[in-house]
Order: sequence, then C-alpha cells, then structure tokens
Amino acid sequence: MKLTIETATIDLLDELYKIEKQSFTSEAFSKKEIACLLEDYEAIGLAARANGEIAGFLIGRIVVEKGKVLGHLLTLDVLPSYRRMGIAQKLHGRFEESLSRKALSSVSWR
Ligand SMILES: CC(C)(COP(=O)(O)OP(=O)(O)OC[C@H]1O[C@@H](n2cnc3c(N)ncnc32)[C@H](O)[C@@H]1OP(=O)(O)O)[C@@H](O)C(=O)NCCC(=O)NCCS
Repeated sequence: MKLTIETATIDLLDELYKIEKQSFTSEAFSKKEIACLLEDYEAIGLAARANGEIAGFLIGRIVVEKGKVLGHLLTLDVLPSYRRMGIAQKLHGRFEESLSRKALSSVSWR
C-alpha cells in the first residue's frame, strides 16, 4: 500500500466528512464544524492518502500553556476498510512532529 500524509485542506472537506460519519455516529462533527476546525489558525489538519484515496485524517489543536506546547487531539478517524494498517499511528506521529516544530519556533529571546 502506498501511503502518504498531506495537509488536510478545505478542498478535502467532502471526503473528510464521509470518513467522520463512518467513524462516529452521534458524536460526529458536522461538515460545518470540520470546515471551521480546518480554518482555525491554531489547528493542525493532516490527511492520509492510501493508494490515491483519502483513508483517514486527524485534526488537532496546539495549546501553549505556561510556555509548554501541548497537542489536543480533536478527531482521528480511519475508514473501516483501512484500519489496523498503521494509518492512525502514522498520522499521530506526524502530529507530534508538527508540535515539536511549533515548540522550537516558540522559543523567543528575552
Ligand atoms: C481508532 C482508529 C483511529 C485507529 O485507526 P487505525 O489506523 O486502525 O490504527 P493503527 O492501525 O495505526 O493502530 C495502531 C495501534 O493502535 C491499537 N488499536 C488500533 N485500533 C484498535 C482497536 N480497535 N482496538 C484495540 N487497539 C487498537 C493497536 O495497538 C494498533 O496496533 P496493532 O494493529 O499493531 O495492534 C480507527 O479505528 C477509527 O477511526 N475508529 C473510529 C473513530 C475513533 O474512535 N477515533 C479515535 C478517537 S478520536
């Protein structure tokens, strides 16, 4: 399986919402909520593309508390047919890398 991770942009909204609906029932984010999250400046959206198809995604938010950069995971979903193949793990790893970069860029002089 060819797996790549890309930024989840608003262009992918229909595909992301389809995955969200298949992953959660009553607790699913609405399409509008996903759109708002993707456009949130503090949010990080990542999508996993497997064999050309969007197979999963993650949206998290960066919170800086007392000088510490923390990641808050808002949603992490993988299409049922692509589960247990390491996609969530890969998305999570990329999210952590983004947080590390953010932490480094948060260092300021005096
Ligand atoms: C939870 C979810 C995102 C996992 O996605 P995934 O791509 O299948 O996860 P991975 O293949 O990366 O799994 C990594 C590890 O997590 C654990 N894991 C994943 N799914 C699991 C499950 N259903 N039960 C128990 N452990 C699980 C396992 O340790 C797994 O490693 P292994 O397959 O080598 O045993 C996916 O099942 C999903 O979308 N579920 C519905 C939405 C949801 O509950 N999201 C999480 C909260 S926001």
